[in-house]
Amino acid sequence: MIDLHCHILPGLDDGARDLETALEMARVAVADGITDVVATPHAADGLYRTDAASIRVAVAAFRTALATAGLPLRVHMGSEIHVHPELVRNVEAGRLLTVNDAGRYLLLELPVTSIPPYFADLLHELRTKGLTPILAHPERHAVLRDDLDRIAAWVEDGMLVQLTASSLLGGMGRRAKASAETMVRRRIVHLVASDGHSPARRPPQIRAAHDALLRLDPRSAARISQNAVSVLAGEPCDVPEPVRKKRRWWLY
Ligand SMILES: [Fe+2]
Repeated sequence: MIDLHCHILPGLDDGARDLETALEMARVAVADGITDVVATPHAADGLYRTDAASIRVAVAAFRTALATAGLPLRVHMGSEIHVHPELVRNVEAGRLLTVNDAGRYLLLELPVTSIPPYFADLLHELRTKGLTPILAHPERHAVLRDDLDRIAAWVEDGMLVQLTASSLLGGMGRRAKASAETMVRRRIVHLVASDGHSPARRPPQIRAAHDALLRLDPRSAARISQNAVSVLAGEPCDVPEPVRKKRRWWLY
């Protein structure tokens, strides 16, 4: 399995605080069946020094540490980019990393409780530049979790949605779980990832969420697994038409 969102690199952000913790996270991921992880330190949020060059250096060092520890986990470059007005310019200047440095997908995060007024324009601009934005965990966003029509409209404009795995299991609260499940039914979920931050409290695991997804909607589960492969390779994803109008769930 592929985990596309994980704060596993040591000492860069609020994820693994040191190498020992990062290696423990890697053990947890491997035990869960994860073979590939995209390291996604928070970037451009004004808190951490996580420009593309720093992440490249950290990934190289962590790969060496994993090999030394004998852990069979492939680590790829990435970042979780805080939305900001200069985002496109910073990507073009090479200061921010695309997923797996493949030049196609960007993992974005919004402020926790608000949506910048320029966000829809930003999504559109990214698409015109040949980049596909992936929005991380809208089911946890104070406004978006209750505004799925807005998410569906962005999806129709080329954005992809990535849920946090534990949201599907209730680990992010009742409202996040309900929102996540409704998003799956409305076919506006394209990816699921751990957003792991630590070995135990926010662990890098996705298997249980995948099993929950299988029970909820087997077709979505299969599509979401395949999309992770595509995103890592920088290939196009399978994106179904979103269900825009609210319908009763048993009609889906
Ligand atoms: Fe994250």
